Amino acid sequence: MKKTVLVSGGAGFIGSHVTVELIEAGYDVVVADNFSNCDRTCYEGVKKITGREDLPLVVMDFCDKKAVQDLFTKYHIDAVIHFAAYKAVGESVDKPLMYYKNNLLSFMNVLETAQEIGGCNVLFSSSATVYGEPDAVPVTEDTPRKPAMSPYGNTKTMCEDILRDTVKANGGKIKGILLR
Ligand SMILES: NC(=O)c1ccc[n+]([C@@H]2O[C@H](COP(=O)([O-])OP(=O)(O)OC[C@H]3O[C@@H](n4cnc5c(N)ncnc54)[C@H](O)[C@@H]3O)[C@@H](O)[C@H]2O)c1
Repeated sequence: MKKTVLVSGGAGFIGSHVTVELIEAGYDVVVADNFSNCDRTCYEGVKKITGREDLPLVVMDFCDKKAVQDLFTKYHIDAVIHFAAYKAVGESVDKPLMYYKNNLLSFMNVLETAQEIGGCNVLFSSSATVYGEPDAVPVTEDTPRKPAMSPYGNTKTMCEDILRDTVKANGGKIKGILLR
């Protein structure tokens, strides 16, 4: 049976490219987005490229816990790739609470729901901002994190820790990957 991957923020820039790759690799994909930073162009483009006119699209906000629960109830989700977040470093300095609220709450709702359904694989789209000002470049996966230099970067560091702690607490039921 085909595995189903939920792509949060799947109508955005990276999410739409990943959706194409997933479909071409043989996965079923559910795209979910609140269109806060995109329109339907990429989603329509993905349907055209893949020939999947029936590609499921759920218009919802990941900060709405009930909407996330409904999504996991409607579809059998094997894995989530979490792209849904605000991503502008400069804007995050001007509007930190908007960034902390959206980026942290949306991800915690995904993890809490994954926990409620008994587990799921979670890939989090983090960022090189977690390296702060690195002592040496290029950074590698062994490079230690340093304090991030913006609220946006802080949300990525915090979400990494939240995922790590959640994986640890769930005894193998939730598996996590951090993508930087
Ligand atoms: N683009 C980059 O170079 C880059 C680099 C490092 C990390 N990232 C991370 O990868 C992810 C995707 O980046 P992108 O460039 O595709 O950004 P993007 O803004 O194009 O995509 C994010 C999508 O998430 C949606 N979204 C935001 N908050 C949401 C919410 N609460 N509920 C539902 N949908 C929501 C937006 O409408 C948008 O379509 C982000 O988490 C970003 O921080 C991006």
